[in-house]
Amino acid sequence: MSKVLSAVAWPYTNGPRHIGHVAGFGVPSDVFSRYMRMAGHDVLMVSGTDEHGTPILVLAEKEGVTPQEVADRYNRVIATDLTDLGLAYDLFTRTTTRNHYLVAQELFVGCHANGYMIEQTTRGAISPSTGRTLPDRYIEGTCPICSYPEARGDQCDNCGNQLDADELINPRSKINGETPEFVETQHFFLDLPALADALSEWLDEREASGTWRPNVIKFSKNLLEDVRPRAMTRDIDWGIPVPLDGWRDNPNKRLYVWFDAVIGYLSASIEWARRLGEPERWREWWNDPDAVSYYFQGKDNITFHSQIWPAELLAYAGRGSRGGEPGDYGVLDLPTEVVASEFMTMEGRQFSTSRGHVIYVREVLDRYGPDPLRYFICAAGPENQDSDFTWAEFIQRNNSELVAGWGNLVNRTASMIAKSFGEIPPRGPLEPVDEALLATVRDAFDTVGGLIERQRFKQGIGEVMRVVGDANKYVTETEPFKLKGDDQRERLGTVLHVLAQAVVCINTLMAPFLPHGANRVHRVMGGTGDFVPMPRLEDVTDLDGDESYPIITGEYSSTPRWECTSVVVGTPIAKPTPVFTKFDPAVVEEEIERMRRGEGDEAVAGA
Ligand code: MF3
Ligand code: ZN
Repeated sequence: MSKVLSAVAWPYTNGPRHIGHVAGFGVPSDVFSRYMRMAGHDVLMVSGTDEHGTPILVLAEKEGVTPQEVADRYNRVIATDLTDLGLAYDLFTRTTTRNHYLVAQELFVGCHANGYMIEQTTRGAISPSTGRTLPDRYIEGTCPICSYPEARGDQCDNCGNQLDADELINPRSKINGETPEFVETQHFFLDLPALADALSEWLDEREASGTWRPNVIKFSKNLLEDVRPRAMTRDIDWGIPVPLDGWRDNPNKRLYVWFDAVIGYLSASIEWARRLGEPERWREWWNDPDAVSYYFQGKDNITFHSQIWPAELLAYAGRGSRGGEPGDYGVLDLPTEVVASEFMTMEGRQFSTSRGHVIYVREVLDRYGPDPLRYFICAAGPENQDSDFTWAEFIQRNNSELVAGWGNLVNRTASMIAKSFGEIPPRGPLEPVDEALLATVRDAFDTVGGLIERQRFKQGIGEVMRVVGDANKYVTETEPFKLKGDDQRERLGTVLHVLAQAVVCINTLMAPFLPHGANRVHRVMGGTGDFVPMPRLEDVTDLDGDESYPIITGEYSSTPRWECTSVVVGTPIAKPTPVFTKFDPAVVEEEIERMRRGEGDEAVAGA
């Protein structure tokens, strides 16, 4: 048994999340965490909403509300969606808690005290009309390298080069078109060059483990080719104050959103322990070198998880070339695995909220429930390569795999038992065909478990569906519906017993992927209550303040074991209702139509 930290990327509160987001960080991390709990590990799964940064500020300004109001609104929306999707966090919190501020500031102070936060003067843009800073990404101009006319202040999307806003030719504000002014400004830079050797040593060791996805390790190692100090403070008034004299009270200097967001993994672990009333418990996942940590995210987050976050941890511990001493939190573990997925497109194009080319998690949950979406993401998500969500494939997979494959196996097993026995019958002597099915099911535990542990979710669920196929084939071969009369009653009982056993065990194999469905199957097969625990949304008060906010948490100690448990003869089985829902293929056209209307509306709104 090990301590396993499941560190799940923190969604921004600048709007509701779409299905591409939960395909990247959400469902994969939940399948993994649920399985690891079933396999007997001590899992701590943490995340929250990422509430600082420019996009949230810009949205607030557009709406004429405070950034905190925007953050409050989408924090609740997102937490509700993720709960309903069944994501079993131990704690899903947010970055605007006092606890998070304190932890982020402690990390900053520690890195600074060890000499890895260096103060430098740079040139920053301000808006002449408001006097406020203009973040690089809100400045547009001609690229000095390739002359592309719409390069951004942070990079040129045409030639891919990183830029500084003051290099742009004819710079202009994307907010109101005015020409920015450049002024001198002071910032703290994380001294990545002083941490490069330590980072590279860690990455070499990670590479040697051979467990990272090839794209992720390659990308991460590439980042080390060009390490420069990176600014960890911003000229902005929304964020965490810089905890140093002369800076603390300056309302226009804040920690960079990414500096604080990644610290969320640690602050959420600390908040979890404090809420438990055992404030030091988090250390079991962070200070023990034998604890393991898995960071789940979309590929656009890799830089921050395989470079910035490890660099912060190394700097805090004094493990760079300047030396130093760890602060109160001690030496904190670096990531074991950075599990990044590729991108999901929708009907052949990138998701775009601004263009209305988007499907929100809420819409799918309301119209189809969580199982079909979780199934699609596991079976056809962007695990190792970009993948495309189409309504046609979504409905087809639901109807022909989930309903006609797994659902049908469960339903016909339960109906036949209900009709002929009303309870799970005893079994007589087993024939080779029976032994073969039972062996297939039993063997799948090692195979599927191994695949999930290595984050091969697609292959994992594929293996479970193969066993479902074998069980359906067993029904065809043994023809229980033809076993009539007293002389065949024992054989009928045996076949139905074997089927009940197979269904119950396959349901255990399915549980990490489809927890909601697993609970329904459990009850169809005569179980009571829930088979697998579900997360709950709960309102709490800030531990160091009086704001109240929703968290996702849960009691997961009743998680069933990852094993094939024997069915109990005599368990009553009633005539079942379908465990999964078939959808009329006509909804494909409706959904595509709805999407087009959405894009039309946005176009009008944007005009
Ligand atoms: N909010 C970021 C995004 O949506 C992810 C932050 S992950 C964290 O891309 F590690 F920084 F928390
Ligand atoms: Zn360019």
